[in-house]
Amino acid sequence: MRLPGARFFVAFLLLPALASAPAAAEDAGARHFAPCRACHSLDPAERGLPGPHLNGLIGRSIGGDPAFDYSPVLRKARDDGLRWDVSRLDSFLADPAAMFPGLWMSMRGVEDATERQALVRFLANPASR
Ligand code: HEC
Repeated sequence: MRLPGARFFVAFLLLPALASAPAAAEDAGARHFAPCRACHSLDPAERGLPGPHLNGLIGRSIGGDPAFDYSPVLRKARDDGLRWDVSRLDSFLADPAAMFPGLWMSMRGVEDATERQALVRFLANPASR
């Protein structure tokens, strides 16, 4: 079925998104986080996923979900007192297993720097959830 008004309708939907760039960037972060949701929640109360929750990640200790059983390499990073900051998270996401050889996270890195930055901003900013 062809909808005569469809093109106008699409423009109508896109205009507000284009007019507010920060909101659009947050949307991009949320979109890039979609595949991560298969294994990670942003809600500490949500259990049973294959990965730790990522609530309040920036500033948090590496291996910092007390209810999650981490690999030896992340337990060591936690015991060494390492914490997540913006630049460490960006390098991690570029190539997770390079930063922590033996990591139990079967995900290839996010190659695109813009995509990574949107992801990091999204994970750093609770308001954008
Ligand atoms: C197939 C499941 C899976 C996917 C998909 C996945 N992860 Fe993970 N992630 C894990 C597991 C499992 C761990 C714990 C690894 C370990 O203990 O070695 C982890 C650990 C992490 C950590 C460290 C958490 C902490 O508490 O220190 C971060 C950050 C992270 N993942 C981010 C992401 C992001 C962002 C994405 C999407 C781009 C993603 N992950 C996709 C399974 C996954």
